[in-house]
Amino acid sequence: MRILVTGGAGFIGANFVHHLLHRHGSVPADTCCPDHPRYAGDPSWDDVEVVTLDALTYAGDRDQLAPLDEHAVHRFVHGDIRDPEVVDQVLRETEPDAVVHFAAESHVDRSIESGLDFVTTNVVGTQVLLDAARRYDVARFLHVSTDEVYGSIDDGSFTENHPYDPSSPYSASKAGSDLLVRAHHRTYGLPVTVTRCTNNYGPRQNAEKLLPKTILRAQAGKKIPVYGDGMNVRDWLYVKDHCQAIEHVFDLPFDGSVYNIAGRTEVPNIRLIEEVLDLIGRPRGLVEFVTDRLGHDRRYSLDDSRLRSTGWEPRTELATGLAETIAWYTRSNPPITETRA
Ligand SMILES: NC(=O)c1ccc[n+]([C@@H]2O[C@H](COP(=O)([O-])OP(=O)(O)OC[C@H]3O[C@@H](n4cnc5c(N)ncnc54)[C@H](O)[C@@H]3O)[C@@H](O)[C@H]2O)c1
Repeated sequence: MRILVTGGAGFIGANFVHHLLHRHGSVPADTCCPDHPRYAGDPSWDDVEVVTLDALTYAGDRDQLAPLDEHAVHRFVHGDIRDPEVVDQVLRETEPDAVVHFAAESHVDRSIESGLDFVTTNVVGTQVLLDAARRYDVARFLHVSTDEVYGSIDDGSFTENHPYDPSSPYSASKAGSDLLVRAHHRTYGLPVTVTRCTNNYGPRQNAEKLLPKTILRAQAGKKIPVYGDGMNVRDWLYVKDHCQAIEHVFDLPFDGSVYNIAGRTEVPNIRLIEEVLDLIGRPRGLVEFVTDRLGHDRRYSLDDSRLRSTGWEPRTELATGLAETIAWYTRSNPPITETRA
């Protein structure tokens, strides 16, 4: 099976490329993915080849894929999904059996500063990919979406049938891309699946996001900015569990279905930060409350019983995943991002 992964140099995409090639492409996990033994065993398909297409924006890190470079089952293409010629060439040369579409502008704060790149990459870029997927008869188009398209919920959990109600330019652009993907199934019969996942955490995330920022600043003894009262609730899923869920969905029909993916581990931001501080052995007094993010969603919560009824469940408890994530950032020690709260 030949799989084109867009955004494979980013956080979840890079973990997914590693995950696929360790499980199905005979690339040893040895040092790059110490968590791999939890996911080993019983892959349903063999001989996977991956082509990664990534524009290497500030969020993309080519080095994340370096351990795969010496293996012929992986090829990296530096290119922008907004460029129809690049995308056409990649699909023509690759003839992928499947496309897994991660590439996106993904940081809510950046989208509040300026939404333009979010619309061009997340909406226009997705349209460019869909056009090419139709031209080359891609048999499986998996669109990686987010719980943020539903907006905030005070009580209960969103099912897949809940209407879109995004709050930020980021989530609005992801909702736009969702709609385009689903429209291509209805209008042209393109075989698509949409997954909407809750907050991921784990290795390889850009240092500007909440958890890496907390870990790196705590280790350096620096103040940790927390929006508002810190009581915004997010549901946390270890990134490799998300990768496993996407792999699981691959074996389900690509009939336009939407699957929520949840960790069922809802935690207020301040509690998560305190847990990290405790694990690292730093005082909770490092927390510094700052002016709340504009339009900050209070709580995200997904009902993922549709996916769980097909046999998927996460394998990593929050405490285990946090300890592994802290260990990874300690080993790789990326620079601290100073610019954002
Ligand atoms: N991080 C989360 O918690 C989370 C949760 C649910 C869904 N998602 C979704 O998962 C996907 C991946 O998220 P992430 O956190 O890994 O994002 P990320 O920002 O870490 O990575 C995005 C990747 O896409 C690439 N990219 C950006 N614009 C591009 C373009 N125009 N052409 C080609 N490549 C481009 C970047 O270089 C980067 O490698 C996104 O679609 C996001 O909406 C993320």
